Amino acid sequence: MLEKTVKLINEKIGDFKPELGIILGSGLGELADEYCDISIDYKDVPGFEVSTVSGHKGRLVFAEINGKNVVMMQGRFHFYEGHSIQKVVYPVKVMRKLGVKNLIITNAAGGVNPSFNPSDLMVITDHINFMGQNPLIGINDDSIGTRFPDMSEVYTPEYVDLVKKIGNELGIDLQEGVYMALTGPSYETPAEVRMAGIIGADAVGMSTVPEAMVAAWAGMKVIGLSCICNSAAGVSTVGLSHDDVIKAANKAKDKFKKLVVEVIKRI
Ligand code: HPA
Repeated sequence: MLEKTVKLINEKIGDFKPELGIILGSGLGELADEYCDISIDYKDVPGFEVSTVSGHKGRLVFAEINGKNVVMMQGRFHFYEGHSIQKVVYPVKVMRKLGVKNLIITNAAGGVNPSFNPSDLMVITDHINFMGQNPLIGINDDSIGTRFPDMSEVYTPEYVDLVKKIGNELGIDLQEGVYMALTGPSYETPAEVRMAGIIGADAVGMSTVPEAMVAAWAGMKVIGLSCICNSAAGVSTVGLSHDDVIKAANKAKDKFKKLVVEVIKRI
């Protein structure tokens, strides 16, 4: 299947060779509207699913941004949509086969760290996989990565430093911290959020970790960026809603785009 998908995409993009991948999270998809040279709907890509979440489009977008050939996922597949974890990470394997070496993974997240505010951006330094799933279970594809991959530097430290430096230069305040993934689709209870904080999480969300694990396994360099859309349950007294999450992401999207476009230039 992987070979078939890659062949079809290569037929559509011709001699465009993507070197950098971006997975765009909830409310952050605008980058792919602004920069779009070629697009392919997920429904036309063998092995891809159709994204069912509102606020997520479903297409692959190819564009030259700041001199780099970029492939963007405008909309991702979540485990909570009922897709198998294999389907969730399939696009990352496809990107690897297309030649992508650097991957920027973005998401909307809830802030566990009480010093975080809605619409803050957080650079991910590490993660906790609390999904009860490991996307690397199964026969190992040795053409992509090794059976027992090291996960000690999933989020390339030199890129974490670079993102912080760029944030500084652009006057964008950045938080940094550990992202913990749960399956969703329900938000956490206050007790779960307390647990998340105790075991070392700064933010909670429902994505990113499977994709980041597969990217690390595949030898890609990963940057993780969270838009902190709300204080996680119990951290503030305000209730949570998907609408508020999208609103906070919308508020952050201009600084997010500015940051990402500069990061693209410098990696
Ligand atoms: N929890 C989990 N995922 C999220 C949240 C949250 O509070 N906000 C946005 N995505």
